[in-house]
Amino acid sequence: MPLPEGIESLLFTAREIQARVLELGQQISRDYAGKTPLLVGLLKGSFIFLSDLARALSVDAQVEFMVVSSYGNSQENSEVRILFDLPVPIQGRDLLIVEDMIDTGLTLAKVVEILSARNPRSVKVCTLLNKPSRRRVPVAIDYNGFDIPDVFVAGYGIDYAQKYRNLPYLAVTMKA
Ligand code: IMP
Ligand code: MG
Repeated sequence: MPLPEGIESLLFTAREIQARVLELGQQISRDYAGKTPLLVGLLKGSFIFLSDLARALSVDAQVEFMVVSSYGNSQENSEVRILFDLPVPIQGRDLLIVEDMIDTGLTLAKVVEILSARNPRSVKVCTLLNKPSRRRVPVAIDYNGFDIPDVFVAGYGIDYAQKYRNLPYLAVTMKA
């Protein structure tokens, strides 16, 4: 299958992603046995990951979404803004934040801070991808799909300038 224009190479196949998502689902189901976690998906990048992860869970789970500002077109924009907040109270809930990618950590650190202030019972973080070499602020990651190097990726919900979210695999883009 030829790669689309703008895509440099394959990073993880759909099959590899699916296997890892199932493992994460099993691990999360064990850890949350008897509980009803609230999955907090950060849109848009996490929408496919969350869809697959939710179906890999054997515990009762609920799903809500938030929209926070991310890169736009500038990788240097470090300001994090909530564009769409959770529509439900979270006091006493077991939150599992579901993110597509942790890069500098700035987005997630801010989201954890904001949500923790609302007195949930617990806050954990699940990310599909992690770029440890790019970290600027520390973030505790409870569930991590894959560590990746400092490359720009797209596919499986993740965009490059709003493109490629629909690819069923994860790929490295031409952006160096
Ligand atoms: P952080 O605040 O730097 O950790 O940025 C996290 C967000 O940046 C992710 O949720 C993505 O939306 C975006 N991002 C970081 N790296 C990439 C990438 O390689 N491809 C697409 N989006 C990325
Ligand atoms: Mg994101």
